[in-house]
Amino acid sequence: MRYGHFDDEQREYVIDRPDTPLPWINYLGTESYFGIISNTAGGYSFYRDARLRRLTRYRYNNAPLDVGGRYLYVRDDATGDYWSPSWQPTPERDLDEYECRHGLSYTRITGARGGVRAEMLYFAPLDETLEVWRARITNTRDTAAELSLFSSVEFCLWDAQDDATNYQRNFNTGQVEVVDGTIYHKTEYRERRDHFAYFATNREISGFDTQREAFLGPYRGYDRPAAVETGQATDSIAHGWQPIGSHHVKITVNPGETEEVLFVLGYAENPRDAKFDPPGSQTINKVTVEPTIDRWLDPATVEQGFADLRAHWDALLGTVTVTTPDDDTNRMVNIWNAYQNMVTFNLSRSTSLYEAGIGRGMGFRDSNQDLLGFVHMIPARARERILDIAATQKTTGGAYHQYQPLTKRGNNDIGEGFNDDPLWLILGVAAYLKETGDQSILDEPVPFDNAAGSEVSLYEHLRRSLRYTLDRLGPHGLPLIGRADWNDCLNLNCFSDTPGEPFQTTENASGGVAESVFIAGQFVLAAKELAGIAALREQEGEAVVYRAAAEKMSGTIAEHGWDGAWFRRAYDFHGTVIGSGENDEGQIFVEPQGMCVLGGVGLEDGLAVKALDSVAARLATPHGIVLQQPAYSSYRIELGEISSYPPGYKENGGIFCHTNPWIMIAETMVGNGDRAFDYYRRINPSAREDLGEVHRCEPYVYAQMIAGRDAPTHGEAKNSWLTGTAAWNFAAITQWILGLRPDFDGLRVDPVLPADWTGFTATRRFRGATYEITVRKPAGVRGRVTHLLVEGERVEGSLVPLATEGGVVRVEAIVE
Ligand code: GLC
Ligand code: GLC
Repeated sequence: MRYGHFDDEQREYVIDRPDTPLPWINYLGTESYFGIISNTAGGYSFYRDARLRRLTRYRYNNAPLDVGGRYLYVRDDATGDYWSPSWQPTPERDLDEYECRHGLSYTRITGARGGVRAEMLYFAPLDETLEVWRARITNTRDTAAELSLFSSVEFCLWDAQDDATNYQRNFNTGQVEVVDGTIYHKTEYRERRDHFAYFATNREISGFDTQREAFLGPYRGYDRPAAVETGQATDSIAHGWQPIGSHHVKITVNPGETEEVLFVLGYAENPRDAKFDPPGSQTINKVTVEPTIDRWLDPATVEQGFADLRAHWDALLGTVTVTTPDDDTNRMVNIWNAYQNMVTFNLSRSTSLYEAGIGRGMGFRDSNQDLLGFVHMIPARARERILDIAATQKTTGGAYHQYQPLTKRGNNDIGEGFNDDPLWLILGVAAYLKETGDQSILDEPVPFDNAAGSEVSLYEHLRRSLRYTLDRLGPHGLPLIGRADWNDCLNLNCFSDTPGEPFQTTENASGGVAESVFIAGQFVLAAKELAGIAALREQEGEAVVYRAAAEKMSGTIAEHGWDGAWFRRAYDFHGTVIGSGENDEGQIFVEPQGMCVLGGVGLEDGLAVKALDSVAARLATPHGIVLQQPAYSSYRIELGEISSYPPGYKENGGIFCHTNPWIMIAETMVGNGDRAFDYYRRINPSAREDLGEVHRCEPYVYAQMIAGRDAPTHGEAKNSWLTGTAAWNFAAITQWILGLRPDFDGLRVDPVLPADWTGFTATRRFRGATYEITVRKPAGVRGRVTHLLVEGERVEGSLVPLATEGGVVRVEAIVE
């Protein structure tokens, strides 16, 4: 069942009923001001950091779901009937029409009732720290409509954690100013904050409210605010309690006409010595912010700002576009997956319907993997991100598991010791170099742990990343796992029996020798990549050493990491094997099958094919590939968090989508395009659109997890939007299945396609030139590209010769 449809032309997903199984969200903002917005206008906004600079309130995990948002109430002053175009927060009022269009960094929600249509456009313009709400109110009756509009937001007192818990203080601190119809929220501005929020409209107001209880009335909710019901705002000035912002705007709309009303919600900072006007007063200095507010309350600015935002996305998405025989592939690659990659890059794992913006900083491994999905769009920001991440590395090569975006410092609470982390830096940098060819990044001075004076070249950081693994090998010669590897929940040194103890940071036993086959595979891959980087720098001696290390580790995997039909997962604290036929549960895990083959392990001796056949036989389901089988039926203290989840969820046998593209890539490496593409379609959200009532999450973005076959809700997605799945799936489909793969020495066109395809076309901008690519393949053929025709000239192999900057080159790739 569907709840909407794709409009590929407009690059929008159109939701045509408001009661989607879960709130289906979108993101506003592109660089520093952000927000989430649901299809019923729920959500919140923040400046840079969703915990420390939150502008508006949202009530996570509430009943009903999705409370707190950017609401507009439309009241017919002749009858007193009121409603909201977004359905929420007045779901009891049936709408005659409803439509939500989620676009790229904007959302448009239209509702109609009783002959009045209201269309809301929400977006955050480029290079500003504000969002615009544009309301267009159309009268389709044949008599004039006298309407009252009420805007509404509830302010968050900045620190979202404190805001949601510290009421003994918070109920006393709230402060606002209202000047010329603009509501300023200035809680804590009197003391140490230099920032405030504002909420303005371009219309004359008939009143306002800033105290929640005055607006809603005692014991009432947003579904029936007293001010809206009576048709008159109370001009309340918040003191303590819950500051809100609501404008009351009266308009007359003549038959057949449309009135436009603008609202602007924004964030501003003042220099510390110019906070007040006049100096010494308690009044916000508005000199710098007023021109911004005035500008964005001008319809012409708004129109231009929206056009600029669309152009921004045109440019970003133009880097890779494909036309394949499969529509679900085309729209994910050309629109939604690329968009999700940028959102994920910006917000890491902080802010979604499932991540409350409070808990987590930026993950070291997560950010390095997110790079894979957006480096081609904004290489300069990838470069900056790499240098920020590397600066949190320790001299040992170890890495803080997370760092805070506002300070860019490593997070001491979680600390280090996730032994896969350092290797991801090599993989991230390799992806950057392959895309850009910018070797200068390797010579950038980068400190350790942000300590001034400790700078060494980024290249030296990479060397230490590799060294970190080699310095920590266990009894089988496999890498020690530390607190966890990619699988945060395989905690082999933890042994927690106390409720609430964090699995990742509790270490109750010492002297363990837990080893990870996953890290071993990742090491092989990273060592080969570092050898490639060394070769670029003409450090042939080093390259030889790294290749030899990769070779040696491959041998160790074959000896101690192979279980007969698949790669093992790990050895635990006591040296007992995990992910083996010898185990009663957790016999086979997906991660090492993917990562070992990505590293090239088993490609020559047939182990890779066997491992992938085992995945197909034991882990693949119609909804995707589950993480491990059989799922753990009980808590196992020696394994940690993985066994804390009921079977079929998350790491305990859920379809942890992030790992699926590793298998897709591995399948292309053994030449199995049919299987790779089949797996791709099983989790492609667009291809799952018809399963709406099963899948339940948004059909336009990947979710972190789909419930596995052991769960009662097999096929149900959770944790949509911010997941490494986005970047990896983009890599799997564009670079491996379609084979448009940046490499150190240029762009490869080396697809591994489903047998029944006859090719596809693509445009790829790469290192300053544009390649118009046509892949031709006879139906039924399973081969690889044998040669290219570059502007008609035959070139052997699959490497496209680099064109001059600005050039447009026609490339035909012939699969035989
Ligand atoms: C979460 C984490 C990621 C981890 C994965 C598997 O998605 O963000 O770092 O690799 O879970 O545990
Ligand atoms: C939980 C989740 C896992 C995530 C980790 C770190 O363990 O299951 O997916 O990576 O938390 O936040």
